Amino acid sequence: MNQSASTGTTVDAPAHVKHRAAIEWVARVAALTRPDRVVWCDGSTEEYDRLCAEMVGAGMLQRLNPTLRPNSYLALSDPTDVARMEDRTFICSKYKEDTGPTNNWVEPAEMRTTLDGLFEGCMRGRTMYVIPFSMGPIGSPIAHIGIELTDSPYVVVSMHVMTRVSTRVWELLGTDGPYVPAVHSVGAPLVGGAADVRWPCNKDHKYIVHFPETKEIWSFGSGYGGNALLGKKCFSLRIASIMGKEQGWLAEHMLILGVTSPSGEKTYVSAAFPSACGKTNFAMLVPPPAFEGWKVTTIGEDIAWIKPNADGRLYAINPENGFFGVAPGTSMKTNPNCMETMKANVIFTNVALTPEGDVWWEGMTDTPPAKLTDWQGQAWTPEIAKATGRKAAHANSRFTVPASQCPSIDPEWDNPKGVPISAFLFGGRRSDTVPLVAEGFNWDAGVYMAATMGSETTAAATGKVGVVRRDPMAMIPFTGYNMADYFDHWIQMGKQVEHRPHIFCVNWFRTDENGKFVWPGFGENMRVLKWIVERTQGRANAIETAVGWVPAFEDLMWTGLEGFDRAKFDQVTSIEPRQWKHELSLHDELLTMLDARLPAAIRLRREQLGLAFGQ
Ligand code: GTP
Ligand code: SPV
Ligand code: MN
Repeated sequence: MNQSASTGTTVDAPAHVKHRAAIEWVARVAALTRPDRVVWCDGSTEEYDRLCAEMVGAGMLQRLNPTLRPNSYLALSDPTDVARMEDRTFICSKYKEDTGPTNNWVEPAEMRTTLDGLFEGCMRGRTMYVIPFSMGPIGSPIAHIGIELTDSPYVVVSMHVMTRVSTRVWELLGTDGPYVPAVHSVGAPLVGGAADVRWPCNKDHKYIVHFPETKEIWSFGSGYGGNALLGKKCFSLRIASIMGKEQGWLAEHMLILGVTSPSGEKTYVSAAFPSACGKTNFAMLVPPPAFEGWKVTTIGEDIAWIKPNADGRLYAINPENGFFGVAPGTSMKTNPNCMETMKANVIFTNVALTPEGDVWWEGMTDTPPAKLTDWQGQAWTPEIAKATGRKAAHANSRFTVPASQCPSIDPEWDNPKGVPISAFLFGGRRSDTVPLVAEGFNWDAGVYMAATMGSETTAAATGKVGVVRRDPMAMIPFTGYNMADYFDHWIQMGKQVEHRPHIFCVNWFRTDENGKFVWPGFGENMRVLKWIVERTQGRANAIETAVGWVPAFEDLMWTGLEGFDRAKFDQVTSIEPRQWKHELSLHDELLTMLDARLPAAIRLRREQLGLAFGQ
């Protein structure tokens, strides 16, 4: 039973695995992919250390200087495999309309034929690891379980950090519990005793595929980030968004933070910013010294699962167990909590190596080290950088680190019940048009604001950087079904919940005539956050504009912020009718594309804005 007939690959499930259907699925995938051996992971420290040591031995990881960065490693990827690939990501629902116009769709049977061809023998010469993981605290009513099969030990150790990998997951599953099956291969079989490379991947074929009806994930050809750590974007957002629609909850690309006021009152806020637009930074915000008695604590920095509770409020958990954050720009000035988090037990990917055996990236220090080995293993100096523009670290270089090490981690971060959310924030990277902050007049107006959000593209995904595109709820690459149905789901959630969170849009990224950010950002975002928290408590003043409620200059606290005067405030808060007329025409491009299924509430709000701006 535990032996696949066609190849002889022994699956040998350990005694604690009693889920017959899962064992049969593992055997079927092994028969298709033909690994040399199958290893059932247990999530132990011993397993983590052993795999890291094996990868160091094979040249796939470098151990960093243990005095400077204990128990930490550096991985350098293939230069063609450095980010999520949206054009290679597919949602294969039975009917094309259920995937919708914002996702790539292929008919499921056709995709299965393609995948069968690609996965056939793709793990030859390699080990297939079976990873049982929980997204969220094991056993939490908001959590869900997945099993990832992968031929990449880098993925196994990354999953150890990013999810809860444990044999307890098998206990919870019992003989027939539900789980999301996820299969991953780097797509680089080792045939005829071929030697391995530092970062195996498949240069010709990459597929990141989701089957909504069966809640399956199949990923081929890439070893990087969200393409390969299938608990993250594939499960926690694309598949989970579908589960949320079916079951009445939300899976969102959101950080979660707690704000404690000087009086001890605690407010939880969840914020959706597109990839590389500031979630990790905002989640670990350190209030400026003038905010005495205010405290910000971190629950999550990338994903939130949010379910209605019997008390009429929405409760959120962070389904992840670690941070997979953008390295460039992270420094003691911008994000000291994150720098502290990274003192030990980190896997860095595509950052630069110092001669002392530590890491460096652009923005970590004002003055770069005199000599480095860059992310491609080449010698790098500031002079070379000046002459060639070559970056020491890739723009999407990342760190993988346990959330529990974060000094600002919230005491409730691991609470299976989640935390009650009072406000949702949505923020893009916009050099103009969108003001520093605005509050939606009501739930539906807030949902419209989120649904029509635009943002300049970043290095987190392959493709052109810096072009404004619509990124509804920061979910354009992550909603696993028709975007119009997703908008409707948001509208409906507002009807179901008695205590609806307030909805705000924010923009830290307005620029001046020289292209420089006007708003100081980072810790200074506390000035906006305080106003937001006080709005949810009915305490802060606001003025009405066409796009929503906004603070007047006097409504924000300015103590301790030198040089930010009324003129600068106007620069980041002005609402220019000319720009907004153009903005509305960009909204229309998205809304027209979704027309067939667009909820009436969204149409209505568009009409109101049209009247306000004469467009
Ligand atoms: P993903 O992990 O891709 O989802 O990214 P993220 O949303 O967590 O973004 P992150 O916090 O890692 O920030 C991305 C980049 O934006 C970094 O280079 C930051 O330094 C920069 N950034 C973050 N917050 C601010 C801000 O308030 N102002 C400015 N100007 N830049 C910021
Ligand atoms: C993002 O792109 O939003 C990320 C990185 O958080 S990845 O996991 O690669 O999707
Ligand atoms: Mn993200």
